Amino acid sequence: MVEFRFDIKPLFAQPIIKVTSNLLPNTFRGDRRQCLDATTKMTEIIDKLGQLSATSQGLSKPVTTAQRLRMCDNQTIYLLADNEAGHNGAVLGLLKVGTKNLYLFDGTGKTRMVEQAPSILDFYVHESRQRSGLGKRLFQTMLNEEQWTASKCSVDRPSEKLLSFLSKHYGLKRIIPQANNFVLYEGFFNDGESGNGDGNGHDHGTPNGLHITNSPNTHLFGATYLGEDSNQRRGSQQQTTPNARLQQITQISPSGRYGAKRPTCSMAEIIHAGNSKGGKGNGNAEANRIK
Ligand code: ACO
Repeated sequence: MVEFRFDIKPLFAQPIIKVTSNLLPNTFRGDRRQCLDATTKMTEIIDKLGQLSATSQGLSKPVTTAQRLRMCDNQTIYLLADNEAGHNGAVLGLLKVGTKNLYLFDGTGKTRMVEQAPSILDFYVHESRQRSGLGKRLFQTMLNEEQWTASKCSVDRPSEKLLSFLSKHYGLKRIIPQANNFVLYEGFFNDGESGNGDGNGHDHGTPNGLHITNSPNTHLFGATYLGEDSNQRRGSQQQTTPNARLQQITQISPSGRYGAKRPTCSMAEIIHAGNSKGGKGNGNAEANRIK
């Protein structure tokens, strides 16, 4: 249980509150002075829980701080409290989620750029209350609020405990290997799938925000898919039939991304490709960013 020098009850009008970049509980009502007071207290709560989460995961610095949350418009922290605990109530857990634009491998090894992928960024329940169902309560509240399903969430460097949690409560076991720190589960790319028993039946994050793309990963590992979306992006008005779309799939290497020839110097290629496109192509944008 995490207790504070101040009474947390006025901040927790309900057991689980949501906090975004304004650092105020979603249930907050008050004047300017109360608002200032509430943000100061929320800052202390978020920083404390963020630090405890980092310590419990063996991280050298917290993933979650109030300062970071203030800078991010697309992140939400869910906080769970017990108003009956101790003198001033106690905060029991934290779950930070957000959306990320990610380059990801799908189940067949193709690279996809997923815009606004739902992401689990930090999750912590106080040691004294773990394994009593509070994590599930917090996580399920988040899924309902965000209208996400568990199988459509990417998970940033999950701990063994979180892997076990997702397996137990949401039946998530089969991982799609990635080149980054995010873990995806089978079902992430499936269209129209309703999840694994988490019951809300909403599908978000894919395929709307999903682009199969000519990404740095593809350059390194091989397969390139020129799908419908890339046609749209080029302003093409042509209607593509399923057959035509199939023909657009180009396997650079017959044996998949592992068999692909590695460029001699990918950095030089990016820079030169960018220069030759005269400032308009993606390559040039990449090169500009690198500079
Ligand atoms: N060892 C193994 N599995 C565990 C452990 C543990 N010590 N604690 C929880 N779990 C898993 C198990 O599957 C457990 O079921 P079981 O008891 O039948 O084995 C299940 O979670 C329990 O579910 P809840 O009680 O609903 O979850 P809990 O309240 O324990 O919260 C959480 C889960 C948040 C992962 C918690 O254990 C925790 O805070 N762990 C430490 C911090 C951490 O590892 N956070 C995830 C970091 S990665 C990230 O945030 C993206």
